[in-house]
Amino acid sequence: MAGVANIEFKGVCVEYGKYVRALTDVSFTVEKGEFVFFVGRTGSGKSTILKLLSREVQPTRGTVLLDGLDVSNMPESDVPSLRRRMGIVPQDFGLLPRKKAWENIGYAMRAVGKRRIEVRKAIEPILENVNLAHRADAFPTEMSGGEQQRLAIARALINSPQLILADEPTGNLDADHSIEIITLLQELNQQGATVLVATHDLMVLEKFSQHRVITMEKGQISHA
Ligand SMILES: Nc1ncnc2c1ncn2[C@@H]1O[C@H](COP(=O)(O)OP(=O)(O)O)[C@@H](O)[C@H]1O
Ligand SMILES: [Mg+2]
Repeated sequence: MAGVANIEFKGVCVEYGKYVRALTDVSFTVEKGEFVFFVGRTGSGKSTILKLLSREVQPTRGTVLLDGLDVSNMPESDVPSLRRRMGIVPQDFGLLPRKKAWENIGYAMRAVGKRRIEVRKAIEPILENVNLAHRADAFPTEMSGGEQQRLAIARALINSPQLILADEPTGNLDADHSIEIITLLQELNQQGATVLVATHDLMVLEKFSQHRVITMEKGQISHA
């Protein structure tokens, strides 16, 4: 599907409250199946870009299109189904500490009325995909940073999303685990998903230099 614009930002501005201007006139397109790094210092606007796509943030000006659909102005009632179509890996993982690894992935499926045993079965291949099958019954607090990160990715994969948004996925990991995580995201990309990764990890950028990089500076694209 090369050549098809999957994501289009047109003149996007975001202000948080009266005084914080997080993005100024940001425009870019990403095609279906691309793998893109958003790079820049803390505060440069990387997370805001990802949050516009999942509609956690709305622009004060401009438009955000996903497959031609205006995400920035869609009714609130359409937002849950929008989010189900994407795999969101938040910066803080967002894991539930009192739920086991498999339950952290499964609660969304349970919520739609599936039986516990069914859910557990369905989750096995997802955990295998991120090399966590042996940790299914561990609690997040018993898992290493790398394992928690992989679990957060696994949870983002339950609906086989065609768009994956990963915010600082190597944030607190050592070099080996960082490479493992980006390699995993790369595999998902090779299976067809569009992948956007926000990072300020220079080692990762050097190692995976074949991918497109969009550099952010003070809320603007400084290099694309
Ligand atoms: N919820 C918020 N309320 C107020 N200011 C925010 C909020 N989220 C982000 N900001 C500010 O917006 C700017 C861009 O932040 P962010 O998109 O998180 O950048 P990055 O992910 O590159 O660190 C920063 O100045 C940040 O402090
Ligand atoms: Mg951020």
